Amino acid sequence: MSGEASGAAVAGGCGALCPGGGGYAADGGGRAAVPVRPPRLAGVRLPWLGHAVPFGRDPVAFLRGARERSGDVFSFTLLGRPVTFLCGRAAHEAVFRADESVLSPKEAYRFMTPVFGPGVAYDAEPAEMERQIGHLLPALTSRSLAAHARVMEEEVRRHIRAWGDSGEADLVETMNEITVAVATRCLLGQEVSERLGPELPRLFRDLESGIRLAGLLSPGVPLPAFRRRDRARAALGRALGEVISARRAARPPHEAPGPTPDMLTTLLAARTARGAPLDDETVVGLLIGMVFAGQHTSAILAAWTGALLLSHPRHLPAVLREQEETTRGADTLDIALLRRMQYLEHCVREAERLRPPLIVLIRKALRDFVHGAHLVPAGHLVMVSPAVSHRLPGIFRDPDRFDPGRYGPGREEHAAPYALIGFGGGRHRCVGTAFAYQQVKIIWSVLLRAYDLRLDGPGCPVPDYSTFIPGPHTPCPVRYRRRASPIATGPGGQR
Ligand code: HEM
Repeated sequence: MSGEASGAAVAGGCGALCPGGGGYAADGGGRAAVPVRPPRLAGVRLPWLGHAVPFGRDPVAFLRGARERSGDVFSFTLLGRPVTFLCGRAAHEAVFRADESVLSPKEAYRFMTPVFGPGVAYDAEPAEMERQIGHLLPALTSRSLAAHARVMEEEVRRHIRAWGDSGEADLVETMNEITVAVATRCLLGQEVSERLGPELPRLFRDLESGIRLAGLLSPGVPLPAFRRRDRARAALGRALGEVISARRAARPPHEAPGPTPDMLTTLLAARTARGAPLDDETVVGLLIGMVFAGQHTSAILAAWTGALLLSHPRHLPAVLREQEETTRGADTLDIALLRRMQYLEHCVREAERLRPPLIVLIRKALRDFVHGAHLVPAGHLVMVSPAVSHRLPGIFRDPDRFDPGRYGPGREEHAAPYALIGFGGGRHRCVGTAFAYQQVKIIWSVLLRAYDLRLDGPGCPVPDYSTFIPGPHTPCPVRYRRRASPIATGPGGQR
């Protein structure tokens, strides 16, 4: 591996943010200095293990601490893999916009292949992955989102029907159950829930808990969590296979979709460039992949939105006032009405910033990669962290504070490019962002109008880093009491 600039890719496609005009630092005489390898973190006793122990215990504290000591770019080792961490808006832009022949998500996310299946998403060539993602998009247009909004609201209402007038519920479990029901209906199709019924939450959980640090090394090592992941994948795959056969037999592909256009319908209607339908394995892989990408992440964002809002109750009156104003006289939550819930949206955004569900995003350097004064050698995993970057004081004022007002007119701290990266950025930015925001807003709109809610415990819960997508530590009990007079007469009412 070269330590020189020649032959290295210079922060590909880098825009206005890149330091040094997109690459090299200049020396005092104005000549381009040779980019150097990032500093390596010290303090490793077992070279192969590297920093796996402190990283595994609390990756965010580890990366934040290392950045304070070593700066915005540094390298370390995780289970024998060299990793370079980069931080800051210019670095995000460089990483998110880099050519895939230089920084490859496909190679970094190989550990996802057991979930998506061979040849699907990250396991496909980049151009094929892009085509596959393109097939999903009709299920995420504003027209489809309007239909999903109805399902989302129905599922929240169905869930709280069992709550009664008062009691206690676990915040994380509640969000998980609601988002499993929504993902099943909006993505997989109603028939899957009829086939797998109460098993679904466990299957989704097993799928997600099969992604852990050891997967970086080899997703095939015989850990019990990986076996559970594979069994869950097989069970979902079987059920989906049966549903697909039944749908293909019952409804010719050219026929209009049913009243609730789920993502399965969209994929069955999709055609390759040659006009052929997608094969069953691709449809199954994409659907399971979407559940994986979108269900637990949304549950955790919803849980943090509630945890942060309820532990900062001085913001509640403004949220409730907005609910009162926006929902007055409305029967259901439609897209236009949700769009007017700006304060609630700012609370969701603040949860995305303070507690992003995906705390690190990675690529693999296939060629040497130059960013500013640094050369990241080919072979390194390149890591950026929404959880660390979202707390940079140069970007967000008083960054550790829960302050939804920072997104309001006149401040708009999130507007700086590549500042807020909870949904990624550049060519692989999340295609489910609007779906996720809509779902979280609907959950909290319905819950807050129907119930007076209190966190049962002091302060805000802390993150549980034992899972890949860290939510509030469980149990995370919330006490609820039905509002004597529900907010607004429409959807907040007791129905
Ligand atoms: C709170 C919920 C969600 C969060 C925090 C989230 C976060 C992310 C992030 C950070 C990425 C970029 C990964 C990278 O660059 O390495 C991503 C990509 C993606 N997300 Fe999401 N996501 C969420 C919900 C969803 C939903 C609901 C769906 C689909 C219905 C979805 C589908 C996808 C897909 C297909 C990609 C890959 C896009 C590509 O590579 O072109 N996500 N997501």
